[in-house]
Order: sequence, then structure tokens, then C-alpha cells
Amino acid sequence: MLKNKNIVLIGFMGVGKGTIARTMVKQSDYFAIDTDDLIESLENKKIKKIFEENGELYFRNLEKKCALWCEKNITNSIISTGGGFYKQENIKKIGTIIYLQSSFDKILEGIRNSPNAKKKLKKRPLLNDLDEAKKIYEQRIIEYEKVANIVINIEELDPSSVAKKILQTLFLE
Ligand code: S3P
Repeated sequence: MLKNKNIVLIGFMGVGKGTIARTMVKQSDYFAIDTDDLIESLENKKIKKIFEENGELYFRNLEKKCALWCEKNITNSIISTGGGFYKQENIKKIGTIIYLQSSFDKILEGIRNSPNAKKKLKKRPLLNDLDEAKKIYEQRIIEYEKVANIVINIEELDPSSVAKKILQTLFLE
């Protein structure tokens, strides 16, 4: 199933896509990239600044460009994505989609308990208003499931166990 294919991690903001990707790298021969990091380096600007100065639509267009580039140019890699990247039309063509699932409260708890909680909240414009963020969460959880090939509930698992579970699931299929 995996030959020449990428592993694409999707899920809500703060669920730990980047952390899981980095942990998977330690447990395998894979290398990882992150769509937000690619966009930030392309623009030489933080996501927060891009939202402030250019607007969300501009950012979504960069995500689209990034998705098309990944489809054409990336193989055998883990790709962690921004929470809205799942909307990209070609996402299924990029690789096997893994949805990291967790409740809204658990995600917030995870962010708040992390050593750099303030920074994690600050860098995500769509988490500024938690009521709004909850609404976005409710809409998206249905869509994340629809687009995913594999759903992993991560609530009771540490990053190492999640990474192991993903790799095992993929290689056993
Ligand atoms: C977004 C999630 C963010 C980032 C941007 C928009 C979203 O990434 O791409 O702020 O729409 O959910 P993380 O999921 O890494 O926070």
C-alpha cells in the first residue's frame, strides 16, 4: 500500500500533528515536512503575520499551491498539515490520509498543559476566539473523517504510541 506514497497527517489545530510526525521519523526511515513550515519559509513570515497582513484567503491559496507541489514532488515522506489543509481537492492524491482524532476539550487541555502553551495559542489566529474555534471544530470533525483513509483516536495515547500505531497499521495493511 505504501510504495512511493506519503503519509499525510490531518486533524484539528493543536492535536499534535507535528509532534507525531517528528516521533514517526525517529521510529522509521521516513523524513517529514510540514505544510505550515513550507508556507512560512516561502513567505518568510509567520502564519499569524500572513493572516494579519494578507488575510485568510491568501493563506488558503498558498495551501493550495503547497498541496499541488506536494502531489508532484514529494514521495515516501510524512507530511504534517495545517488544520485546514484537508480541504485541498487533491489531498487524496498526495498520500494516505491519517486523521488524528481527539475531543475539543482534550486538545485544549493538551495545549494548556504544554510548556509553551502561550506561544501555541498565540501563533494560531483561529484559536483566538474559543467559541468560534469550537464551531469550526464541530464542522470539521465530520469532514476530517470523510477524507481520511485511517482514523486514529489519540486521546489516551502518548506521541510514541500514536506513531507506533500509525506505522503498524500502515505496514500491516
Ligand atoms: C489552521 C491551522 C493552523 C494553520 C493556520 C490555519 C486551520 O495549523 O495552518 O493557522 O485552519 O485549522 P495547525 O493545525 O498546525 O495549528
